[in-house]
Amino acid sequence: MHARAVAPATALLGAVALLLPVVDAPAAAGVRPALIAHRGASARAPENTLAAVDAAAGLGVAWVENDVQRTKDGELVVVHDESLSRTTDVEEVFPGRSPWKVKDFTAAEIARLDAGGWFAPSYAGTRVPTLTQYVRRVERHHQKLLLEIKNPELYPGIEQQTLKVLGDEGWLDRRHLRGRLIVQSFSADSLRAVHDLDPAVTTGLLGRPAVKDLPDCARFADLVNPSHVSLSPDYVAAVHATAGPHGRPLRIFVWTVDDAALARSVAGYGVDGLITDKPDVVRQALASP
Ligand code: G3P
Ligand code: CA
Repeated sequence: MHARAVAPATALLGAVALLLPVVDAPAAAGVRPALIAHRGASARAPENTLAAVDAAAGLGVAWVENDVQRTKDGELVVVHDESLSRTTDVEEVFPGRSPWKVKDFTAAEIARLDAGGWFAPSYAGTRVPTLTQYVRRVERHHQKLLLEIKNPELYPGIEQQTLKVLGDEGWLDRRHLRGRLIVQSFSADSLRAVHDLDPAVTTGLLGRPAVKDLPDCARFADLVNPSHVSLSPDYVAAVHATAGPHGRPLRIFVWTVDDAALARSVAGYGVDGLITDKPDVVRQALASP
């Protein structure tokens, strides 16, 4: 177990965390937002696979987003849905195992599944990666990782386990913490657990909390990451006006922005990041307003 991953939130760690810069400064007017390849470059390659990481790298995209869950025998794997049905051939390989939930299959069973053939025949044989395999590929490409803890209520202790994998892979050193890692979740409880386990980790709360609740969120979240739906310039300004747990303004990454006109509109609100299945389309849109 990496010591950092299990240390309590001591005053000393808190002080160290305050000194650590957050991943990027909030976007200033006229500055282009960061682009984050959602589930990898998921319009180009099967989502949440190493091929999707490679596709993002091929497009020159620095950030990739993924979704982490846990197998029956305790391995962390990268897959979005609670069930394996949509993105693998699990129903053919294990026909009697409905509803084919990730948590009901062992890592060895999941390793047998084809996670690419549903997307395109050329990706047949692509596998569901373990978190370890995934972060190694992201590291190989010198990319940055927006890691989502998905369905944490199904996986008690997944926060500590995720931090252990990240620590074992060298992702909790100062270099990664300063600019290459954000952990996000829709669950405030899960994100608070991550922050308490290691206050130096940059964290993002998925969703759109009310403006009046932003100060509470800012106790444990460095970013607020809402859907583009019902987003407004006033909301972005309210997020930026709130100081996060490291004493700096909260930032805001918005999802899922795949359309050129939408990308220009949301970027104009001053958001810090656009999470997109189509980073090439969004980049082109922002380059030619
Ligand atoms: O990163 C934001 C986005 O991933 C949240 O929604 O369902 O794609 O995990 P979802
Ligand atoms: Ca996600």
